Amino acid sequence: MASKPRRKKPYKKPNNISIPSPSFTFSYKKVSVFVSLVMIFGVIFLLGISSNILSGVASVPKLYSVQVINEFPHDPSAFTQGLLYAGNGTLYESTGLYGRSSVRRVALHTGKVEALQKMDDSYFGEGLTYFEQRLFQVTWLTKTGFIYDPNNLSKVLQIGKFTHGMEDGWGLATNGKVLFGSDGTSALYQLDPQTLKVIGKQIVRYNGHEVHNLNELEFVNDEIWANVWQTDCIARISLKDGAVLGWILLPNLRKGLIAAGHNGIDVLNGIAWDDIDNRLFVTGKLWPKLYEIKLHPVKKHFDTGVIEQLCIPPRS
Ligand SMILES: *[C@@H]1O[C@H](CO)[C@@H](O)[C@H](O)[C@H]1NC(C)=O
Ligand SMILES: *[C@@H]1O[C@H](CO)[C@@H](O)[C@H](O)[C@H]1NC(C)=O
Repeated sequence: MASKPRRKKPYKKPNNISIPSPSFTFSYKKVSVFVSLVMIFGVIFLLGISSNILSGVASVPKLYSVQVINEFPHDPSAFTQGLLYAGNGTLYESTGLYGRSSVRRVALHTGKVEALQKMDDSYFGEGLTYFEQRLFQVTWLTKTGFIYDPNNLSKVLQIGKFTHGMEDGWGLATNGKVLFGSDGTSALYQLDPQTLKVIGKQIVRYNGHEVHNLNELEFVNDEIWANVWQTDCIARISLKDGAVLGWILLPNLRKGLIAAGHNGIDVLNGIAWDDIDNRLFVTGKLWPKLYEIKLHPVKKHFDTGVIEQLCIPPRS
């Protein structure tokens, strides 16, 4: 590319250069001015191209495949709804299903449930997050949530129960300042951690489509990452405008488990981020394994509509 503007120029100008002596100095000047201009425009042109490329890359959502770094055991009877890494090899997990809902502390490496608080049978556990030494949990089809002491998982006295401002309780996450919540719609909420009132709301969109069924959430490097229910996709969501910045495609994890004979498993659900060692963990409902994964950008071109088909289920 760099040679193009320069090469074009000498081809055009031989006539001027061969003009006899009186005007020679003048036309030599002309030529050198022209050469300079061409070079300047060439540089501007190249800068233009590269800035187009850069802004193009920044605005087109990226696609990522995953590489499994480690596999850890996971309780295959845990209908995972909320997952977080609390440091020191410890995960906290919230599970669903009526009669089987719980909050638990789990050892990462062994998958051993070290502490478990069973929920009342009338509640179906959903998203979980850790904020200021407390665990916050929401529940399905209600606006009721619970606050637990992370050491013994007992409900915190007096303030152990709350009512939140979302339509339903699906996912929870935090950046240490506000809580982020999902309710199965395309809305990503910001909640006041003291009152649980909605203080902000963004509609999550990809290519003009609303992304419904936002489920388990994780705050990762100033983005919210969300499992999209009933897909093998995780959306990387911008907190500026709710735009999907990228899709993490994980069908190989679920398909690998099924191929290994784990036919009873449910969907991918549960993202945990270790912000000390930059480790990413994922699992699913009734999955016998929890994976540590790394992302790799996908270079392959997908035809129009393919990502929508994979990652954006119709509104439920
Ligand atoms: C980390 O885990 C170990 C083993 O479970 C425990 O003995 C230790 O107290 C924990 N440290 C912190 C800071 O929680
Ligand atoms: C749980 O631990 C807290 C302190 O972290 C304590 O106040 C509370 O009484 C404990 N609950 C139970 C049931 O042991």
